[in-house]
Amino acid sequence: MLKRQAVHEIFPTPIWVADLDGETSGPLNEHLLRTIYDLTEPRRALAPGGSWQTDPVLHERPAMSDFMSIVMKTAKGALEFLDIDYEGFDCTACWANINPTGGKNSSHTHPNNYLSGVYYVAVPKGAGNIEFGDPRGQASVIMPPTATWNKFTGNKVAVPVMPGRLVIFPAWLSHSVPANTGDEHRVSISFNIMFTNYTETMSGTLWKSGSVQLRD
Ligand SMILES: [Fe+2]
Repeated sequence: MLKRQAVHEIFPTPIWVADLDGETSGPLNEHLLRTIYDLTEPRRALAPGGSWQTDPVLHERPAMSDFMSIVMKTAKGALEFLDIDYEGFDCTACWANINPTGGKNSSHTHPNNYLSGVYYVAVPKGAGNIEFGDPRGQASVIMPPTATWNKFTGNKVAVPVMPGRLVIFPAWLSHSVPANTGDEHRVSISFNIMFTNYTETMSGTLWKSGSVQLRD
C-alpha cells in the first residue's frame, strides 16, 4: 500500500506582487501621470499596436525620486526573499509606457539585468494584464487536455494588474501585454535592477554547484 504521495515544486519561478495603499498610490499616480504626459509631448501618431515610451532614464529624474524609493524598497524585499548575498544593487533603466487602444507589447525579456518590474499608474477597463510565458520550453511539447489549466500544466500565467500595483520578476522571464481593448490609455512604468559592481563582487568562479537537498 502507498504510505504517502508527496509533490515538491522544484525550480519555481517567483513573481512578486506589491500593492501600495490608496493614500500613497492616489497622489503618487496623479504626479506620475502628469510627469509622463509632459515627457512624452508631442505624442506622434503610432503604427497599429504601438505605444509611446519615455527615454529609459526616469530613475535619474528628481521628479521620480519618491517612486524610485518604492521601487528600490520592493526590489530589496525580493532579493532578501531569495537570500542573495549582495553588496548593493542599482536601477539600470526606468521608462514609462503609454498604451492607447490597440497598444500591446510582444513577448520579450530584459537582458543584462537580474530583476525587472512594472508599476501600474493607470489601468482602465479592457487594458489587459501582464502575461508570463513558461521558461521551460520543452514542457509545452506535450500538453494533454485538463479540466482547467493550473500552474503545473499551463504554459502562460496572467497576473491581474491595477493602479498602485508593482510586479517584480526575474529579468530572464519572457512576458507580454495583450492589446488594450479599452478606450483610455494604459500607463505603466518599467524598470530593470542589476547588482552594483557585479564583476568585482559577485562573478567569481562558482566551484560548487547550487545544489539543493529536499528534506522530506
Ligand atoms: Fe518588459
